[in-house]
Amino acid sequence: MKLKLHWKLTVIFCSAIIFGLLLGYFYLTAHLKTFLDQNLQSNLKREIYLVRDLIEEHGDTADVQLLARKISKEIGIRVTIVALNGVVRADSDLDEAELKVIENHGGRVEIKEALKTGFGLSKRYSYTLKKELLYLAVPFGQKSVEGIVRLAMPLSAVAIFESGSQRIVVLSLFLAFLLSLGFTYFMAIIISHPLEEMAGIARAMAAGDFSRKPSVRSRDEVGDLARAITHMSDQIKEKIDDIQQEKAKLDAVIMHMFEGIMVVDEKGVVQLMNPSLRKAFLIDTPVHGRRAVEVVRNSVLSDMLSDLLTGKERIISHELVITFPDERVIQVNGVAISTLNKIEGAVLVFHDITELRRLEKVRQDFVANVSHELRTPVASIKGYAETLLSGAMEDKQALKEFLGTIHENSDRLVNLINDLLDLARIESGRMKIVPVAMEAVSVVQRCLNILEKTIQDKKLSVTMDLPGNLPKVLADESRFSQVVLNLLDNAVKYTSEGGSISVKAVSQEKNVRFDVIDTGIGIPEEDLPRIFERFYRVDKARSRDLGGTGLGLSIVKHIVLAHGGEVWASSQLGRGTTFSFTIPRV
Ligand SMILES: Nc1ncnc2c1ncn2[C@@H]1O[C@H](COP(=O)(O)OP(=O)(O)O)[C@@H](O)[C@H]1O
Ligand SMILES: [Mg+2]
Repeated sequence: MKLKLHWKLTVIFCSAIIFGLLLGYFYLTAHLKTFLDQNLQSNLKREIYLVRDLIEEHGDTADVQLLARKISKEIGIRVTIVALNGVVRADSDLDEAELKVIENHGGRVEIKEALKTGFGLSKRYSYTLKKELLYLAVPFGQKSVEGIVRLAMPLSAVAIFESGSQRIVVLSLFLAFLLSLGFTYFMAIIISHPLEEMAGIARAMAAGDFSRKPSVRSRDEVGDLARAITHMSDQIKEKIDDIQQEKAKLDAVIMHMFEGIMVVDEKGVVQLMNPSLRKAFLIDTPVHGRRAVEVVRNSVLSDMLSDLLTGKERIISHELVITFPDERVIQVNGVAISTLNKIEGAVLVFHDITELRRLEKVRQDFVANVSHELRTPVASIKGYAETLLSGAMEDKQALKEFLGTIHENSDRLVNLINDLLDLARIESGRMKIVPVAMEAVSVVQRCLNILEKTIQDKKLSVTMDLPGNLPKVLADESRFSQVVLNLLDNAVKYTSEGGSISVKAVSQEKNVRFDVIDTGIGIPEEDLPRIFERFYRVDKARSRDLGGTGLGLSIVKHIVLAHGGEVWASSQLGRGTTFSFTIPRV
């Protein structure tokens, strides 16, 4: 059981008081007894000398017994008169008959002593009276000693007197005890109250309530303690506020960061998992308190965690490939959290590098594609030149034919290099696009003029359907004409003889939409989404034969997007293709 402080104090104080009182009691009673004894003795002594004087005065009276009785009645003490030979001559407590048979008193201690020294004293049991008695004796006689007078007082009377005074002592001590009990109880409460208050405040602080402050204002140690607690409470509150603020900031960062974060304890149980990670692994159930390997079922991840938590590795990095919901590559960096060589958990950061990997692949493919595209014309130029050098140039006919092929291939090289340069410039942002308000009709017309010869050769019918009130477009003229030329060039190239091509334009809310429609070979459905990729061609050989590089649509797309427009294609295999794009209008 818990004993309250003020009760403890009360018990301690009371024990001290009881001890003091007991000490006082024993001291007092011991002293009282000797004091009372001495007092009694000296009183009796004084009385016996008075009695002696009385007897000496009236000693000649015949009836000593009467005298003894008289005196005893006056002083309330038994008086005995003994002759020198020890015969009892008178005794206030005995009648005549008893007096006759009483034994000789010559041998009594007090009588013998009185005869010897002039004063005798004895304390003993009287068989006559069956009581404990105190005897005093002195000799008397006018000229010589005639006898001895003795006073006897029952000790029970002394005891009664003693116990009377003892009761007073006990009573007053008890009263003192009661008083001090009440006093110490209140003292104890006064002392312990502030301590209890502070204990309550400390408990409240532990529970997170810092609003309570001790009410003690005294200048003693308790007051110091109260001030220390107030100071401590303020400090702790400040620190906790700081920590909470920091935590809130950290939480905000972790919650909103793009990377996934997972923290596990030393048993691999999830302590934290941010929304990004939940989203990446499609986790929508509560994860706190579950093992990481159960939440994210992935063998690479569980191997990483076990390496980190067993202390095999301190820092680890691996790539995971997730196939669901779609294929993604995720780089996981893990660090073990350890203090004093003890591993307390691990932090894993998940970085989605799918896009990075894709771009890397695009770059590799691009390099491979470019090399491949360059190699063909270069190889053929080299081949024809070598053939000519090794004698074929003597043959006029062959010379002309081979030089023509070399010329054709070098054209292709120039086209390819120009397209590559354009693309590189657009992609790097080095190609400046300065949009101005311009008429689209004239540009389309100029492009058709450029293609005029092929159009006529292939007997294509071309229609231009641009309304007279078509608003001006906001475009960089040379780039815009590059777009139109590329699309018309494709239309001409991929449409068989006798086909038709039409260019349409309609004004929309914010844009002008252009359509380049042909009745050509069309594009297979599965290739449609990819034709704007670099070097993507439905039929490589055909494109190459027609002098294409596979970069045209890619350039178109970049230019249109840079103007803030859109480009798309629709096609029906064998029946024709429509390329559409929008350009902001004035
Ligand atoms: N009008 C069209 N009709 C059919 N196929 C087309 C048309 N325009 C483009 N294509 C297809 O798209 C591919 C990419 O076009 P492009 O980037 O201009 O390259 P290129 O014209 O050099 O072959 C072409 O190789 C062709 O297969
Ligand atoms: Mg083209």
